[in-house]
Amino acid sequence: MNKTFIYITLVLISWVSVAQNTIQVTDLQCEMLTNPLGIDVVQPRLSWQLETDASQIEQTAYHILVASSPEKLKNNEADLWDSGKVNSDATVNVQYTGKRLDSKDEAFWKVKVWTNKGESNWSESALWSMGILTYAEWKSTRWIGYNHLFEGDSIGQFAKLSARYVRKPINLKGKVKSAKVYIMGMGLYEFYINGEKIGDQVLAPVPTDYTKNVKYNVFDVTSQLQQGDNVLGTILGNGRFFAMRQEYKPYKIKSFGFPKMAMQLVVEYEDGSKETIKTDESWKFTPYGPIRSNNEYDGEVYDARKEMPNWNKVGFDDSDWLNMMWVQEPGGFYEGQMTPNMKIMDEVKPISISSTSRGTYILDMGQNMVGWLQIKVKGNRGDKITMKFAESLQDDGSLYIANLRDARTTDAYILKGEGEEVWEPTFVFHGFRFVELTGFKSKPSLDQFLGKVVYDNMETTGTFECSNETMNQIFKNAFWGISGNYKGMPIDCPQRNERQPWLGDRTTGAYGESFIFDNQTLYAKWLDDIKYSQTLDGGIPDVAPAFWRYYGDGVTWQGAYMKVADMLYTQFGDEKVIKEHYPYMKKWLLYMEANYLKDDLMTKDKYGDWCVPPESLEIIRSSDPTRLTDGEVLSSAFYYHLLQIMKKFARIQGNSDADIAYYDALAERIKKAFNTKYFNRENYSYANNTVTANVLPLAFNMVPDNLQQKVFENMVHQIEVVKEGHISTGVVGTQFLMRTLTEFGRGDLAFKLASNKTYPSWGYMVENGATTIWELWNGNTADPKMNSQNHVMLLGDLIIWYYENMAGIKSNPEKPGFKQIIMNPDFKAGLTYVNASYKSIHGIIKSYWKLNRNKLQWEVTVPVNTTAKVYIPTSDALKVRLNGEKINSEVYQSENDKIVLSLKSGTYTISAKL
Ligand code: BGC
Repeated sequence: MNKTFIYITLVLISWVSVAQNTIQVTDLQCEMLTNPLGIDVVQPRLSWQLETDASQIEQTAYHILVASSPEKLKNNEADLWDSGKVNSDATVNVQYTGKRLDSKDEAFWKVKVWTNKGESNWSESALWSMGILTYAEWKSTRWIGYNHLFEGDSIGQFAKLSARYVRKPINLKGKVKSAKVYIMGMGLYEFYINGEKIGDQVLAPVPTDYTKNVKYNVFDVTSQLQQGDNVLGTILGNGRFFAMRQEYKPYKIKSFGFPKMAMQLVVEYEDGSKETIKTDESWKFTPYGPIRSNNEYDGEVYDARKEMPNWNKVGFDDSDWLNMMWVQEPGGFYEGQMTPNMKIMDEVKPISISSTSRGTYILDMGQNMVGWLQIKVKGNRGDKITMKFAESLQDDGSLYIANLRDARTTDAYILKGEGEEVWEPTFVFHGFRFVELTGFKSKPSLDQFLGKVVYDNMETTGTFECSNETMNQIFKNAFWGISGNYKGMPIDCPQRNERQPWLGDRTTGAYGESFIFDNQTLYAKWLDDIKYSQTLDGGIPDVAPAFWRYYGDGVTWQGAYMKVADMLYTQFGDEKVIKEHYPYMKKWLLYMEANYLKDDLMTKDKYGDWCVPPESLEIIRSSDPTRLTDGEVLSSAFYYHLLQIMKKFARIQGNSDADIAYYDALAERIKKAFNTKYFNRENYSYANNTVTANVLPLAFNMVPDNLQQKVFENMVHQIEVVKEGHISTGVVGTQFLMRTLTEFGRGDLAFKLASNKTYPSWGYMVENGATTIWELWNGNTADPKMNSQNHVMLLGDLIIWYYENMAGIKSNPEKPGFKQIIMNPDFKAGLTYVNASYKSIHGIIKSYWKLNRNKLQWEVTVPVNTTAKVYIPTSDALKVRLNGEKINSEVYQSENDKIVLSLKSGTYTISAKL
């Protein structure tokens, strides 16, 4: 008896301790931020990931402790929140419901979990800090600026304004225990303490419509401050605030005035006392520093002769500097910035340099990139080097600049003549592959130049490689195009005088992008930009923030509001964005209905199926009625689709029955009217039978029952025969094309479109030297008026298709955030292998399959605490092996001639004969 008892106890103890060592809680995040300082959400959401070598792990409970100091947390003294043991499998977005936190409070937290196979230890601890929660707390912090032009400044088409160098000596009376700075520097700022730059961000803060909301950044500056004298220094650049063609087209381009700033430095001394230093008119500035002008479109001019050594350190003589003035605040409310700033994310070494007959040199970076060029030069004081940026060359080897419109894209550096000088700009970026260099007396060497790649500081979460080289290169081009166009908001292009966050370019693109980049906080911020730009009657602009004031009242562009929110829900499990934005979305839907719904059809459209392949290679916009799809067709179908999404959102946000009934009834009426007017029962086509006119009703499930297959066959005929196996859709149709083809059984045709090298296709761009994605299918021959070589809108649903349909990595929308993964690749589309991974919010998902004749070999990784449904296209279970073993009915079911394995976390090898 005794013996048996002891034996059982031992087994139990050793089992628990093995499990404790193997299950680890990692990657603690608050509001999905890796550096969560200045959170201004009163009840932030906490997330973590589980890691283990063991398989089939499910979390059964968690326990969170939150304390006001690291010491307390260490002793498990959770004075802010002790969640207790909560039976739940949630690891993402668990809402803090502890003591109410005040402005600037710090919270330290950790978590442990229980699983079906034992419990973890306590995680490492993590921290978040609160922002400034009330407007009143900023009241005595003055906005300071100086609303005047100085020598060299100008307004107008090519507005110029030197950077303002701002300086404030301070004296700290004791030893600093901790210190944080809360800074708003408009349009862009660089902040220094005692000469040291604070943070590794560039081009901060993220742009907003400053009359609606202004973002502040928060930094922990404890280690930069000392007892006694210190100097705070700021350089203010223009960004979108000043110099976006200031007062050039005031009816169209929004501008905000002269640069300005407001800042609080909160210091806690070791004796427990606190002091807050705030901006006021005692701060001094000079407009005569080295950055002579900085304009996002035209470039930066830097005169090194005007450098002011140690201007941001103690002891500098600022007696001839001017005092800042107390100026009006920008107008918008203040918000802690909840998405990371931009950063230098990569570097590119140039591949060649060649001389021109004009005595200049052309540098080739080998990649169309976004950011800037660092130069190393030697020369005489006053020598001037200029760099003009362009995406490609003309036949004669000179820069192709016609597509930049009136953007001058030129940086200039004037040497101080003191040995080797290393320089890069501070407040501009360029989209370029080639740089024309002027001012070198002899041919410079390649190692004098380095490309700095600049985009939002976000993790690359996806990899993709397959057996088709064209598809691989398209993926790389997409990577460069998408990342380069992240500029605190998703912009259309980085090179010409536009760079606007057009809604329609990302309606579906954002979803594809989310497989490659952790873009959750960026797109959450963008939804706020859209919300803030809504008119009082409900209209939404074409561009948000509405730096260009276009309120075109379309559906396909404006629909990005709902589609991007849906992406955040499906890919990241983010319900909060739905709840927050639902009322504004609904307002827009009703606004459109009230103003533009006639005879149950949505009559207003602005851009059509933008950028279809035109009838001649030289033109931008087609006027051929057989290529274009009627705006009413696009808008009505899209509006119908949005109503379906809104039904889902209504459910998520609760209290929804009346709303759902309303959307349902409206959708039914639209479907009926749409089919009555546009469905042609003789040839099973829609409207004028473009691929777009057919793919939308197919994708949106509007086609009358039992006729889907017929409509699909007609569409396939259009693609295969009429368009000879080529794409004929523009920005709207391409968003649904690849998935619809595959889901209706013609993955092979989608594969043909994805791997085509002839015009029009993505591969045609590759064949013609593209290293990003073009704005136009005919981007190498079209009129330069609208012909960017770095636009991502034509990607449509291609990247989604890469991951969901080719790799088989798809989040089940019913169990969002990849809580359940649908792994159902089309093995027969034409690829022989795909090797892809995606770092989801639960951990890494992998899918690596190879097909050798009919033999499938597939390695799959399912993250801890998730499940996967894995589809194998055979109905014969005997032909399937899981980790080398036959499968039994506990792990699989049959579904439409496929074996579906239900897998829990772990790495598996699947083999099958197909
Ligand atoms: C932009 C596009 C945008 C379009 C809408 C173009 O100038 O570059 O990205 O969607 O205008 O009209």
